Parts: sequence; C-alpha cells; structure tokens
Amino acid sequence: MRNIFDSHAHYDDSQFNPDREKLLGRGLPQAGVAGVVNMAADLASCQTTWELTQRYDYFWGAAGIHPEEARDLPEDWLSQVKGWLKKPKMVAVGEIGLDYHWLDACPKERQQEVFDQQLELANKLSLPVVVHDREAHADTLAFLRKHRPQGVLHCFSGSWETAKEVLGLGLYIGLGGVVTFKNARHPVEVAQNVPLDRLLLETDCPYMAPVPHRGKRNDSSLIPLVAEKIGELRGMDPQEILDITQENAKRLFHIG
Ligand code: NI
Repeated sequence: MRNIFDSHAHYDDSQFNPDREKLLGRGLPQAGVAGVVNMAADLASCQTTWELTQRYDYFWGAAGIHPEEARDLPEDWLSQVKGWLKKPKMVAVGEIGLDYHWLDACPKERQQEVFDQQLELANKLSLPVVVHDREAHADTLAFLRKHRPQGVLHCFSGSWETAKEVLGLGLYIGLGGVVTFKNARHPVEVAQNVPLDRLLLETDCPYMAPVPHRGKRNDSSLIPLVAEKIGELRGMDPQEILDITQENAKRLFHIG
C-alpha cells in the first residue's frame, strides 16, 4: 500500500519512547506512510509536535489546547498557541473541542471558552481546525455553526444524521480504527455514506488500533486495515480509498 496519510497522530506520546526514531525514520515510510499530521494537546506538546515536523519531511503539525487540558493555562496561552501556528509546517489548530466524558479534568464552561477562542484564532489565521467531540455533539455543533471554520471532526462517533450536519457546514469527517470494531454501528453507517471527497483517515495513535490489533499500540502503518474495511463497505479497492483520502488531507491542510 502507498499514499497512507494519517491526519491525526500523537507520536510525542511516551508509548513511542522506546522506538520512535526507528519507527518514524524508517518503519513508517517503508510501510507506505506518505504524510502525518501530529496533534498537540497542551503547550508542551505544541513544542514536541513542532520538533517532529522539523525532524521528518513527511510530518506536519497542529497546535492547540485539548479540552481535557484547558483548566490550568497561563494567562498568555492563546498568544503562545498563535506563536507555534506561525511556524512553518504547522498547518492546523488542534486538537481542540469539547469532552463531556471527563468533566473532572475541566468544567464545561471553561472548555467552551477555550474552544471558542481557538475557533476564532483559526479563522483569523485562515487555518483549519481538528475537532475532538466526546459526548458533546450538540454544543460542538453550536460552536461550529457560530464560527464556520474549515476543518475536520476527528474520530467521528456521531450518527449519520449528525454527520450530515457536519458535512453541511463544509467540514470533513475523520475515521480510524473504530470502524473495524465489532460494535461500531454509527461509524460504519458514516463510512458507508460519507461523500468520498470529505473523508480523512487517522489513527489517533497510540490509541484506537484497528482489529486485529485492538487494545495494542497503534501507528500509521495500520491505516490500510481501516481502508480495507471502508473499501469492503463501499465495494472499492482499499488503495483507491488511500489515494483519495491523501488528496483530501492535502487539500484541507493546504499541503502542496
Ligand atoms: Ni487525538
């Protein structure tokens, strides 16, 4: 397989410490991985993400504050995020959004405030957003309607009805290992119906490994398993799914 584009990864996660250089330097390119967008989650990972983009040609980065990390930020956090976004190869604001599953990590109101400010920043800089929505579909959609950014709903977990609203706002839908899970009713329905020019593939690695690697460490070389499943659902060659989703990612992230 070739033209594997991973639109959402966390290669600065400590699970990659034992073999990061080997995996990113040789393993992934040899497996046909042609592009990766690494996500930040807090200010420290904006820096590590940027460092990855400097080390590997096929890496790009997103800078932003994840909803679970939104509680204790320095006063100048937004200008720090903006600083990272001005650097070359930083192509998106992410990952940002709302997570109502882990409200202990950060109260709703604070999550919304931080999401709102980053959506505004993305539009000011004409950059796409990478959006995390967990158990917060209605509020996430409300903020997206308010700001109308370019971007992608990553690891999309909503129904096809919700997906249609997301697509109506001009956004892309990111699918990963979850479509291969046995209990994946919603993601399968979305994978069957999403217009192919609005689909991105992703790992969210080190998490969300596709079947038969479920529960183990994920990486971008496993994306063909996701492409195979979507190809099977749509009666298409998996390589064609990889080719199209790579083009989509390059278009959304303005990568030449
Ligand atoms: Ni993520």
